[in-house]
Order: sequence, then C-alpha cells, then structure tokens
Amino acid sequence: MTPSVEKLFAFLRQSPTPFHAVETIRKELDAQGFHALEESARWTLRPGEKYYVTRNLSSIIAFMLPTAKDWSGFQIVASHCDSPTFKIKSNAEISVRGNYTQLNTEMYGGMLCASWMDRPLSVAGRIVVRTGDGVATRLVKVDRDMVLIPNVAIHMNRQANDGVKYNPQVDMLPLYGDGEASGGFLAEIASTAGVQQQEILDTDLFLYNRMPGTVWGKNGEYISAPKLDNLECAYTSLQAFLRCDVKTLHGIPLCCVFDNEEVGSTTKQGADSTLLYDVLRRITLGLGQTEEEYYTAVASSMMLSADNAHAVHPNHPELTDPTNQVFINKGIVIKYNARQKYTTDGVSGAIFKAICQRAGVPVQTFVNRSDMMGGGTLGNISNSHVSLNTIDIGLPQLAMHSSYETAGTQDVQYMIDGIAAFYQSGVTAVKDGQYRF
Ligand code: CO
Repeated sequence: MTPSVEKLFAFLRQSPTPFHAVETIRKELDAQGFHALEESARWTLRPGEKYYVTRNLSSIIAFMLPTAKDWSGFQIVASHCDSPTFKIKSNAEISVRGNYTQLNTEMYGGMLCASWMDRPLSVAGRIVVRTGDGVATRLVKVDRDMVLIPNVAIHMNRQANDGVKYNPQVDMLPLYGDGEASGGFLAEIASTAGVQQQEILDTDLFLYNRMPGTVWGKNGEYISAPKLDNLECAYTSLQAFLRCDVKTLHGIPLCCVFDNEEVGSTTKQGADSTLLYDVLRRITLGLGQTEEEYYTAVASSMMLSADNAHAVHPNHPELTDPTNQVFINKGIVIKYNARQKYTTDGVSGAIFKAICQRAGVPVQTFVNRSDMMGGGTLGNISNSHVSLNTIDIGLPQLAMHSSYETAGTQDVQYMIDGIAAFYQSGVTAVKDGQYRF
C-alpha cells in the first residue's frame, strides 16, 4: 500500500460522518500549528499565520496568510465531506412481532440502496447534551458491528434479479437486535458517548459502513472503500494545502470542505450558504484592506471545485461519452457541461491543464453523454455567492454512491500533486480573460 493510500484509508476510518471528518481535519491542522477561529468571536489575523474556522462543526475552511504584503487573490479548493447514508430518526426503535428491534431511518442523499444490505453497519454522529448552563455537542461513534439490513431471500422474491424497487420505510430499516434489545439503542449511544441517557436532548446520528478500505487488482491498481465520494477529494486537497509555505505564497490558499452537498447544499453550512463569502470578507478586512481591495482580490482569484467523477464502467462502456472517456489511474478529471452544471470553461480549463502539465500530472476530460443528465456538484452553487473563475475536477471512480466505492491507487497522488501545483502557482488575473501563474 502506498503511503498516501494508507493515510487516505486512516482518514476514511476516522471520518464516518461529516462531524467526524471535520474533527479529523481539525486535528491535523492543530498538529500543524493552525489557529482555530470562532465565527462568533472577533478575528485578529496576522500575516504569516495559519487559521481555520468551522460552521456547525460539519463544514470547515482553513487558510494561510502569506508573509508577503503584495498578495493578490485567493486560491480556493472546495470539496464536500458528506456522503449518501441513512439518518436515524427520533424515537428510532421499531418492534417487529416482539422478536426484532429495528431502527427507523430516512434517506440522506441518493444512495444505491442494494449496496447497504447484508453487510455490517454501525451508527455515528453527534448527540446534544444538557450542560450546567446550556447545551453542548458530543461526537459519538459506535465502534462495533452494530446493525445490518438483511435482504429478502430470493425464494421470497423471485423478481429480485429483474430489477427491485426499494421502499425506504420498509426495505431499508436496519435490524438492531432481538426483542430483548428493545429500549437499548439510546442507552448504548449514551454509554458510548460517556453520558447519562437522560442528558441527551437531541441527536444527529447516521449509519456508516464498517467495511475497511482495501487495495486490490492484479497489481494493486484499485482501491475500494466507503465514502470515496467525496472524502478522497477532501483528503487530497488537505494534503496539498498543507504543502503550502507561508514564506513563498503569492496569494491566500484556502481549503474548504462543505457539508450537505448530497442534499443540495442549501444549509447554513453548505456550499449554498454565506460561509465562503463571510470568510473571504473577514480575511480581507482582517488584513486591514478596503472594500475595493476585497473586490479586486476576488476578481483575481480562482477556485477548484473537487468532487469525484465517473470512470468508464467495465460492464457498461456504452454509458460514457464517445470522445471523453475517463479511466482509473489516468489522472485528474476535468469536468465540462454546456449548461454549466460544471463550472469549467475554456479559460479555467486551460489554466488548470497548463498548471498540471508543468507539474507532470496527467489530466483527462469528462462530459456526460448528450442524452444523460449527470449529477451536479458544489462549484456552480458556490459561485452564486462568491463568483470567481472556477474549474470542476475530480478523481475517476466506479459505483458512485454505493456504500463501497472503487477508485485508483495512483490517482490519489496525482490529485495531491495537481492541487499542490494549483496552490503554489498563485494563479491570478492580470485583467479580464488574461491570467498569470
Ligand atoms: Co460528490
């Protein structure tokens, strides 16, 4: 296993929910000497220092301030840390004929339901507890094979191989235990979190897949793991960001990881919020600059929107565009869409290609078949709040939104190198349509 894949798997293991992903990222930033900022407190920013801020403890933006005074623009990389899963409802327990205890769930995002069946799952998220003077949140991760969603036997559903419809209120409920398990779920969550059950006022709990990441294929060319979409981009962009050196920076690099992309980003902490706008404003003002300088900085800036892309499927190559075929381990994918669901245009695509070329990182291009809709991501959504030249990129993967996805061993390093080259390029606009890097 390459060191970057090993570190990626550790990152995935530690990040079963967006709350945990942000905590994992914070720990790494803390270890690297970053200062934590609170949105609800006054910011005092100093050149040459490194900072991060969270919102809802499920989105995070980290940035470094160059020592140089004449910085121009922001170099932004945005990814997301949520993945499709099932959210545990309040009053979760359901008794089935007195002999089973199930958990009541609802879908979070658009998953491939079948991939959640017949495999060990568990529960993680956060609880909110009463404290002496208010409430506070606690992370919780049940670190054991806790629940499972059993399939219906083929003998009881002869159509199972001819296309199945899954009803989330019926077919996707996880089994927690037998009749004796009744009343035990919240007690187990409380004891895992080290609190009394009656202290828990509310919860944000989700299922997670217990299967660890694995390297496979003839020459170990493939990796499979839960949540590669999009923790692979969150992880690689963080590693690339941490390579920046405040002494040699020409711009201000930001590493943004947003929650709620899989449900449309329209939350207070999602990419469709004011979070990025607020942070860029506070950086500019915190450095003693004017309103005018905020506008020139944003106009000189660039953003990478990093979210995984579809590789050609081995059993269904016909699902891919005839001339833009993406393969695993062939490099970073640049995504295009005429309706601008992906933000890349000729200029932003050219800039990123040139940066990767200079760094020796291979790139490939993705466009949906003209008769297929494809998915969206957070680049164009973020642009509606802070509008700047943006490129949509990702790593090639198979089985997107399965609970166990597949990608390429080599691509992990390509992404780290490509994003690092983007940060270090200090790419900036000379004037409209002309860029220097
Ligand atoms: Co995604």
